[in-house]
Amino acid sequence: MTESAQVVIILMGSYVDICPGNATGANRVAAHYNVLAKNYDYFYKERHEAQFKILMKYLDLKSDHLVVDLASGTGVHGEKLVESFKLKSPVWCVEPSSEMQKVAKGKKGVLTIEKTVEEFLDDLDKQNRFDFALCVGSVHHFSDPVKVYKGVELCLTPDGVFMVVQVGELVSFPLFKKAKNRLTSFVSDRKECSSAYLRSANFEVEVSEERLAFVVKKYKWYDMLRGRFHSTLRELSDEEIEEGIDELNKGILQHAKGDDDIPISMNLFIFIAKKM
Ligand SMILES: C[S@@+](CC[C@H](N)C(=O)[O-])C[C@H]1O[C@@H](n2cnc3c(N)ncnc32)[C@H](O)[C@@H]1O
Repeated sequence: MTESAQVVIILMGSYVDICPGNATGANRVAAHYNVLAKNYDYFYKERHEAQFKILMKYLDLKSDHLVVDLASGTGVHGEKLVESFKLKSPVWCVEPSSEMQKVAKGKKGVLTIEKTVEEFLDDLDKQNRFDFALCVGSVHHFSDPVKVYKGVELCLTPDGVFMVVQVGELVSFPLFKKAKNRLTSFVSDRKECSSAYLRSANFEVEVSEERLAFVVKKYKWYDMLRGRFHSTLRELSDEEIEEGIDELNKGILQHAKGDDDIPISMNLFIFIAKKM
């Protein structure tokens, strides 16, 4: 499939739509990740590998640093950070989904904490303890992001750094119409929104933009759609997913064989937040 044959989704939206967060669906989010957990590392392997190479450009950790990964999923970043920077202490992986944490327990060098970020920050008794806090692809789940960011600011050392990573508005996924519509309403002015939130929490913020690109096999892309790899797919029925795959087979993916590589890309915002 050529780049031009792909559906390129230009996602634009308003500050108001995205800024309130997504608290109302918290239970559905938890259920979604509990089901997704067993396939999560398989679905996200190519993305995580390409993404970590990008993140490495911004990371400067010392082996004695204490690191926390907020909304850590299956602990994949924690394991890579320990290995890449020879961290002496395990990376604290804060993640509420018990099934995601089950997978994380199999990773090397992580300390799993089965809590929401909000619970974790409320329960922390000592301040100024982490040299680095990370949050990848998850801040849209926080019901009150400014409150969370204020809590993170308090639990960092004076030189501590908070890195937030978010997908931006330019996503190039081969998607069928219904899925595309859902994704369109999911992402919007994240650069402005997250920068403003972080500044409200007393951080100085620098934002960088990167292009994240990788390929997955066509058969795997269909596995990912059937497995609702993205939370915006979770409310589609099996029938709707199969109709969507049929739409792709007759449309933009008609010339691709099962084993062919499908290019996927998106822009990525990297927020580096430092205590003022
Ligand atoms: C898209 S996944 C990203 C996981 C991981 N950061 C990664 O990059 O692979 C979003 C994660 O946020 C978690 N999550 C949802 N609400 C949360 C909350 N309030 N506090 C902490 N984690 C939360 C979900 O359970 C899920 O594992």
